[in-house]
Amino acid sequence: ADGCLDDLVRTHIALHPDFPNPGVLFRDITPLLADAAALRAVIRHWTTLLPEGIEYVVGTEARGFVLGAPLAYELGAGFVPARKAGKLPGTPAGLSYDLEYGSARIEIPEHALPAGGRTLLVDDLLATGGTAAATLELTRRFDVELLGASFLIELAGLGGREKLPGVPLTAVWTLD
Ligand code: PRP
Ligand code: ADE
Repeated sequence: ADGCLDDLVRTHIALHPDFPNPGVLFRDITPLLADAAALRAVIRHWTTLLPEGIEYVVGTEARGFVLGAPLAYELGAGFVPARKAGKLPGTPAGLSYDLEYGSARIEIPEHALPAGGRTLLVDDLLATGGTAAATLELTRRFDVELLGASFLIELAGLGGREKLPGVPLTAVWTLD
């Protein structure tokens, strides 16, 4: 990512030490979301980092929805939600996982992705990679063509990238 966009992201993220658990430095993206010019600049720049031919963006609840939907719209792709458990009707595909500060279960609607659909995973932040690895495993059950995974922020020090071996991974802003 170019330095200018790094700065735009960095200056619109609020840092909260010891949230939600002691020892976690929480990075809050709500200042970025509330700034019209910054939000538009980041979404538009982000699309330039992505592979060609994306048909589906899978975004993980909740922050992956807020960023994944405008990305899908800009790309002319569809949006598929990976929801926290218990929200979807029918017989969704589901998987439990651990993340930096807890554990959760996500579900993708039955029949949401066609076999071979060219799919990108999106979330606001890659920390330990637990969430992304679970979304990846769930998405693969649909026999999609996975084009990659992309994040607004990659906390490289937590090693999340290693949980997505072989997956082309991009981030708007990578921190050591
Ligand atoms: C946050 C973030 C990622 C995940 C990253 O989501 O939005 O999805 O944690 O952490 P990991 O790489 O260690 O798995 P959270 O579950 O807090 O949900 P939210 O989007 O609803 O705030
Ligand atoms: N998700 C996992 N770790 C996080 C962090 N440090 N800040 C914001 N969201 C997160």
